[in-house]
Amino acid sequence: MCGIVGYTGLGLAAGQPATAETTPVPSGHPLEVALEGLRRLEYRGYDSAGVALVGPGRDDVAFAKKSGKLGNLVGEIEAHPMPQATAAIGHTRWATHGGPTDVNAHPHLADGDRLAVIHNGIIENFAQLKKELLAEGVFFRSETDTEVAAQLLAREYRRAGDLTEAMAATARRLEGTFTLLAVHADDPLKVVGARHDSPLVVGLGEGENFLGSDVAAFIAFTKEALELGQDQIVTITPTSVDVVDFRNKPAEAKRFTVDWDAAAAEKSGFESFMDKEIHDQPHAVADTLLGRTDVDGRLTLDEIRIDEAVLRAVDKIIVIACGTAAYAGHVAKYAIEHWCRIPVEVELAHEFRYRDPILNEKTLVVAISQSGETMDTLMAVRHAREQGAKVLSIVNTQGSTIPRESDAVLYTHAGPEIAVASTKAFLSQITAAYLLGLYLAQLRGNKFADEVAYLLGELRDVPAKIQTVIERGEYVRATARSMQDATSVLFLGRHVGYPVALEGALKLKELAYIHAEGFAAGELKHGPIALIDEGQPVFVVVPSPRGRDSLHSKVVSNIQEIRARGARTLVIAEDGDDEVRRYADEIFWIPQVPTLIQPLLAVVPLQIFAMSLATAKGLDVDQPRNLAKSVTVE
Ligand code: F6R
Repeated sequence: MCGIVGYTGLGLAAGQPATAETTPVPSGHPLEVALEGLRRLEYRGYDSAGVALVGPGRDDVAFAKKSGKLGNLVGEIEAHPMPQATAAIGHTRWATHGGPTDVNAHPHLADGDRLAVIHNGIIENFAQLKKELLAEGVFFRSETDTEVAAQLLAREYRRAGDLTEAMAATARRLEGTFTLLAVHADDPLKVVGARHDSPLVVGLGEGENFLGSDVAAFIAFTKEALELGQDQIVTITPTSVDVVDFRNKPAEAKRFTVDWDAAAAEKSGFESFMDKEIHDQPHAVADTLLGRTDVDGRLTLDEIRIDEAVLRAVDKIIVIACGTAAYAGHVAKYAIEHWCRIPVEVELAHEFRYRDPILNEKTLVVAISQSGETMDTLMAVRHAREQGAKVLSIVNTQGSTIPRESDAVLYTHAGPEIAVASTKAFLSQITAAYLLGLYLAQLRGNKFADEVAYLLGELRDVPAKIQTVIERGEYVRATARSMQDATSVLFLGRHVGYPVALEGALKLKELAYIHAEGFAAGELKHGPIALIDEGQPVFVVVPSPRGRDSLHSKVVSNIQEIRARGARTLVIAEDGDDEVRRYADEIFWIPQVPTLIQPLLAVVPLQIFAMSLATAKGLDVDQPRNLAKSVTVE
């Protein structure tokens, strides 16, 4: 969803020498900082982009905005160069109110073009506010709810004469979700931001400060950051950061250091971020496991600041998440129930909240989210806490909202995930959820310390095995290239292979726009088998023959059933599984691992398949149509 950048520095144009009166600005021209921030936020998904600049000696805001990709905006700026500035705001818009046109793109201007506003979220009472402003004779140029906020802010500014105070007054009038950033020509060193149920983080520099929808916006310039709380307003100048609440009273923000490497958000020679992130997976899993044992090899999860007595008393776990993160939760359910003997429910966050779920202080709710900003998951977290449940979140992005609103957080260490469709986050979420399961098993005495150590050892062997699967990827790529004309692909799995099948189908839908369905293999005879006819491609995730009794043979029977009806079987099986080989039209081998660990390997060929097929069709695998990386509206 929308990406937001704000910057204020002492305003030297790139390459301009510093004088005695000015301090050199390490990050260069504000316009360049804003564009670089927007480039780094492109992954969130957008359909138009814009920037606004203010600087001394100018009595209005300079701005440029264009529908389409960032390249269009850059082209516009090259054709009509922008002036030197001291502060900038930049925006990538994902259209909600009003189509993705130049006019509807942000920034929106008011106060005789002296004020510019950008916005993420939805202002629910915009129609009523617009009516009020129209009655006062305000003229609107666009159809957006954002312009209403801009005009309201202009009115408040005329009353208060101070941008921070005006922002507080405006925020109090708005209903819905919003992050707003504003600059005014009267105050060319200042950027003011407000947040309500929508993300905003502050980057702390020297002689410069930053604002961003997430830390990716500024990690190229600084790793020092401030996490803002709900309903806060932040005012940045090159040398100050002030935080107040919507009543304009001083408020606290939490400082942290970003542990992502800026280079991790680069393609590093790969054709796409997706390809790079698939290759990052051994590291994502290894880093998520790192530093989580004490000197005696005992699993310690220091971040879990929920009282041990509370965790011992937990009698039900509910995992809430959306999309791929929910499938990671679904995999974790099998492991946690097996290791801890605690019932685990997995629920899509948006269904959970409206279902009137039964939970109490003995329920542990585990919220899984890569971005830490998914609105559906955030709302479910709030709902769970209101019912008295403890919430532990498994999140990848520091400074995001879900960890802040949870009782505890277990961070995955996948690094920035830029491709819109999730890959390495999925593997690291499963890994973190497994750590949680083992920790609970240890704490509650379901597993002895040596058993936990043994299972941890098996998890530590996984990164090398993922690497092997990636290295075998060429056969998957070639198969995918030969299937460009497929119109429907089915995916079957059983036990932990079932959520892997669901994830395989989701990846293919998202990336290649092909109809794809995942089924529990046992469900086949209850309906889906009617879909099978001559040549229908079906992926089947085959469990380990060394695993649970009969699981393997049941899936092998399912393969025979569909093959007898003409299906083309594409089988993911463990090295040495000679029995299944006979029934596979294509077979993708993965190294041998224990049953519960298999999803961490089995999903990789499915990711490579979806990416390669989409690439062969000439599609953009990093930014599939209609999708946003961070879904910050319900
Ligand atoms: C699929 C995908 C989405 C996300 C979902 C949750 O490839 O990326 O289904 O998994 O939108 O996002 P987070 O994990 O950020 O809460």
